[in-house]
Amino acid sequence: MADRLKGKIAIVFGAGSSGPGWGNGKAAAVAYAREGASVACIDLNLAAAEETAAIITREGGKALAFAANVTDLASVEACVAATARHFGRIDILHNNVGVTHMGGPVELSEEQFNASLQLNLGSVYRCAKAVIPEMLKGGGGAIVNISSLAAIRWTGYPYFAYYATKAAVNQATVALAMQYAKRGIRANCIMPGLIDTPLIYKQISSQYASVEEMVAARDAQVPMGKMGTAWDIANAAIFLASDEAKFITGVCLPVDGGQSCTAGLPG
Ligand SMILES: NC(=O)c1ccc[n+]([C@@H]2O[C@H](COP(=O)([O-])OP(=O)(O)OC[C@H]3O[C@@H](n4cnc5c(N)ncnc54)[C@H](O)[C@@H]3O)[C@@H](O)[C@H]2O)c1
Repeated sequence: MADRLKGKIAIVFGAGSSGPGWGNGKAAAVAYAREGASVACIDLNLAAAEETAAIITREGGKALAFAANVTDLASVEACVAATARHFGRIDILHNNVGVTHMGGPVELSEEQFNASLQLNLGSVYRCAKAVIPEMLKGGGGAIVNISSLAAIRWTGYPYFAYYATKAAVNQATVALAMQYAKRGIRANCIMPGLIDTPLIYKQISSQYASVEEMVAARDAQVPMGKMGTAWDIANAAIFLASDEAKFITGVCLPVDGGQSCTAGLPG
């Protein structure tokens, strides 16, 4: 264990993984702990949160697991209060929850559109609303929002609500960064490019004839030749959450193997 986040208290929403292996939120929670943070692992799926917390405690770190639904303010507030009670403060807020519903306005149901809004953007609102007062009590903190390269690029998939809500996450990050710049809270977001996580096998693979075709096509789109991993996102998050980034706020950082430098047009 290293100490880039030694003594910090982190709360990670979406700290589980939607399938076996390493999702972005699970890797971030474990990576924060490996750098010395105590981590509250929050997920809709309690077993998934507990699995992440168990990895952290097995490695000698400190972790809690709670179930909460980021679309329900009361449940977010309850786990934020429990985290602050247990650890004494909250220094790092990591907003990882996001959903991809395929389709343009014609194909998307109103329910799917609203769910995208509530999950991708509403989660940032609710978690920030609940955590910021705790951060201010401790003199400040760092917010890391997980957006997507889709916030600024057409990525080849017809997911209208995803593009729109992730773009909103970027500007919500800027709004948080500017409002709290003088009060010690930094806010940044990460825009993952094409990442090989369990999520893509559930939410993206329908766009391809087979999983093998999906992996090959996604790898081919990345200038560096391969999709990233959840650890690439987690490593960027450690930096943005740490004091090494103390002069960095309001940034939307692509972590994408160079894809944002290209015309971005996949097959
Ligand atoms: N994999 C990629 O290629 C890629 C690319 C760009 C952005 N992203 C972003 O990364 C994030 C997800 O990454 P991941 O790999 O950890 O996904 P994941 O699906 O593996 O994990 C997300 C976790 O969030 C939990 N969750 C879902 N709904 C919830 C709710 N209402 N309340 C609380 N928890 C809830 C799930 O149970 C799951 O454990 C999303 O914001 C996604 O948009 C991923």
